[in-house]
Amino acid sequence: MIDGRKSLFSGMQATGNLTLGNYLGALKNFVTLQDEYETFFCVVDEHSITVRQDPAELRKRARNLLTLYIAAGLDPEKNCIYYQSHCSAHAELAWILNCYTYMGELSRMTQFKDKSAKHADNINAGLFTYPVLMAADILLFQTDVVPVGIDQMQHLELTRDIAIRFNNIYGDVFTVPEAYIGKAGAKIMSLQDPLHKMSKSDENENASIYLMDPPDAIMRKCKRAVTDSDTEVRYGEDKPGVSNLIDIYRSCLSKSVEEVEKEFEGKGYGVFKEAVGEAVVSVLKPLQDEFARLSKEKDYIDKYIKQNAEKASYYANKTLRKVQKKVGFPERIR
Ligand code: TRP
Repeated sequence: MIDGRKSLFSGMQATGNLTLGNYLGALKNFVTLQDEYETFFCVVDEHSITVRQDPAELRKRARNLLTLYIAAGLDPEKNCIYYQSHCSAHAELAWILNCYTYMGELSRMTQFKDKSAKHADNINAGLFTYPVLMAADILLFQTDVVPVGIDQMQHLELTRDIAIRFNNIYGDVFTVPEAYIGKAGAKIMSLQDPLHKMSKSDENENASIYLMDPPDAIMRKCKRAVTDSDTEVRYGEDKPGVSNLIDIYRSCLSKSVEEVEKEFEGKGYGVFKEAVGEAVVSVLKPLQDEFARLSKEKDYIDKYIKQNAEKASYYANKTLRKVQKKVGFPERIR
């Protein structure tokens, strides 16, 4: 809770190109939550350097991501959209929490195992303690809910364990966060392999629609999407490709499965895929235009970068000071 409101924290990495799945599954829903929660949307640049990054590229991507959140309709006055590296409390709390987290716990994290296999030449200590920084992100804001995908659930569980452990020693310091399970935030699957999630790191370029894809690429990818040998536009486990396209179509246009099935009764896949492409363009084109417009508004974006770094630091420091006192650091002299 923050100032009597429930708080929501989400961290996102500025690496890879965001996909339609990121938009329909997360970003679009955040817009509907901004009135209900005190929200923190943090571009986690400190997490990004656990794998090697090109500095100029990281800086550019981080700014693009922050701009994109605003372009998607998140009011930067109400939502605290900010960079992790602009709020030093993250790193400071992470250090303290490192001392309350066990090597054994971190060794069990599947993301660490996956990433160290993938980056065998750079298994750095930051990669190992990544989940502790994530715990700090969340716990700094007395967060009630965290919208996370299944791949981050293990990290959220660890965050809860750390919070409970700390609270057991020092009294109620942290809110123990819950996963936010949104209403029907569609899970969008790969267009080429509909049994797997649409991913920003897919090597098959027809598998994912990127948020910045031009209309002709979107249309082409939709037309090439994998379906089945049948012709019926129907939702079902036996039809993963078609079901995924129905999900995309209905999330873009806010329709129900039944409405979509009815609309395309007897029409075949060609007509349907064309319509899906147009629906996606109708959602992404305005987002792209707004992104392009905002990207030129340097002063406007800069103003919120500064303002929200201060806002985040204000709330984060409140928690940090409390923690520092609890563990026995000397009082500051004013
Ligand atoms: N680890 C998350 C991811 O890769 C990003 C993240 C960092 C995050 N800190 C967070 C997500 C706090 C939720 C809450 O997706």
